[in-house]
Amino acid sequence: MTIHIGAAPGEIAETVLMPGDPLRAEWAAQTFLDDAKCVNRVRGMLGYTGTWKGNRVTIQGSGMGMPSLSIYANELIRDYGARTLIRIGSCGAMQHSINIRDVVIAMTASTLSTPSRGIFKELNYAPCADYALLEAAVASARKKDSAVHVGGIYSADVFYDERPDLNEQMIRHGILGVEMEAAELYTVAARHGVRALAIMTVSDHLLTQDALPAEDRERSFGDMVEIALEAAFA
Ligand code: ADE
Repeated sequence: MTIHIGAAPGEIAETVLMPGDPLRAEWAAQTFLDDAKCVNRVRGMLGYTGTWKGNRVTIQGSGMGMPSLSIYANELIRDYGARTLIRIGSCGAMQHSINIRDVVIAMTASTLSTPSRGIFKELNYAPCADYALLEAAVASARKKDSAVHVGGIYSADVFYDERPDLNEQMIRHGILGVEMEAAELYTVAARHGVRALAIMTVSDHLLTQDALPAEDRERSFGDMVEIALEAAFA
């Protein structure tokens, strides 16, 4: 047990999928895993361990934002021995070439800051994905005929953004979308020599103001979960 995860030693798999929403962890475990068992309920941040095609997988909620994700990623890696962590989340699109329900895979994640910022001092560290996971996820998405976009994203500290000027610069520099967790996941994973990837389904669009209707979310998110599982065990 750790401060934030109640799982017994050995109850967390080496491969962990991390949705922000704990209820999505429950849904994904019930939908995609065999013999899923709830291994964490601390603070309602649900985690499940089961198997996918015979491979052990944990699906553990990360909460919203980098400080929350940082807690779970650190404990999963340092205390439970997780070796592959894949965020499965949502993002807001920042380019006209991207549509609602498309899949975005983050090669890099730009930030204003992360919980790890302090250790880098004047260095602007560039958090980036594990290349083998990235390549396998892209191959899986292409096989499914999913519309997939691969490139830089923005990991924001706030959802209600008071800096539209900054978004303009990111759009101008080709940033695909905004979410709130990937940069810290990539940084913590790099620090501990483990693999990480962030895959997002586009839930809203900053340029068109479109948004995914709540009833459509499950199916769209399902494709992303399959892409993550196929990439993890490619
Ligand atoms: N996650 C999904 N949509 C988002 C947005 N517009 N901003 C930040 N995080 C998001």
